[in-house]
Amino acid sequence: MTEGLAEAVGTIRARTPLRPSVGVVLGSGLGGLADAIEDAVEIGYEEIPGWPASTAIGHAGQLVLGTFGGVPVAAMKGRAHLYEGHPPAKVAFGVRVLGTLGVRTLVLTNACGAVDTSLSPGQLALVSDHLNLQGSSPLVGANDDELGPRFPDMSDAYDPALRVAAHEAAARLGIPLGEGVYAAWLGPAFETPAEIRMMRALGADLVGMSTVPEVLAARHMGIRCLAISCVTNMAAGVLPEPIEHERVLEIGARAAGSLTALLRELVPTLAFSAQSGNPPSGFPLREDP
Ligand code: HPA
Repeated sequence: MTEGLAEAVGTIRARTPLRPSVGVVLGSGLGGLADAIEDAVEIGYEEIPGWPASTAIGHAGQLVLGTFGGVPVAAMKGRAHLYEGHPPAKVAFGVRVLGTLGVRTLVLTNACGAVDTSLSPGQLALVSDHLNLQGSSPLVGANDDELGPRFPDMSDAYDPALRVAAHEAAARLGIPLGEGVYAAWLGPAFETPAEIRMMRALGADLVGMSTVPEVLAARHMGIRCLAISCVTNMAAGVLPEPIEHERVLEIGARAAGSLTALLRELVPTLAFSAQSGNPPSGFPLREDP
């Protein structure tokens, strides 16, 4: 078994009998949802053996287990990034722990830059697919056959039924929700304008420095994924102004309210749609070429 997984799961199980079916990964400044979890048991990442500390600004380091709209959930408040120097397997460790705890549906959130100029800062957008430009994967190395297959399929990595459920929840709340292809960049430097033009030519609409290693690990385990990006800035070169991390956090904090509202509306429906396997309705999803 993957190193450290059993110890981490044992530590969490010793703290709570809750068996989460839905996992949530809360990105930069987007941890607000965790405060709405009922009967919450909070476990600091430093208390869980093998769990990488999150050092990024705007990232707390806590796993919160409890119920949300009646659904047993585990929320990661803060995540590890490759740019912090963690090996890919460490970046994916939390997701593998959640999967081993019983999570079958994973909602990932992140802050991103908009490559697509029809998106604007403060807006939320679903990830329809990704481009892995990070040059690494948590699946590299000996395969753990207990977790999943050597060559996992990545078609529909961002589950169509979950995306339909998210669009419907957003429509009920009147929250505009875009959709697009997310390019994952290693960082920690923001991209150059030339790199953004390259990504646009490759078909990217959104750019960020997270999510993809976690989705690779989750899909390896057969966990269904939904990723919601919060556009905090136009990508480099789109506007004649620099990208500042403080501003990214500020816009993220402003959009966090609508993200939390969307998750509150959506998460209680996910345990159901995860079982049904079919899109709840004919809500049109973005067609990627
Ligand atoms: N690039 C990469 N990651 C990001 C950005 C960006 O412009 N904004 C927020 N996270």
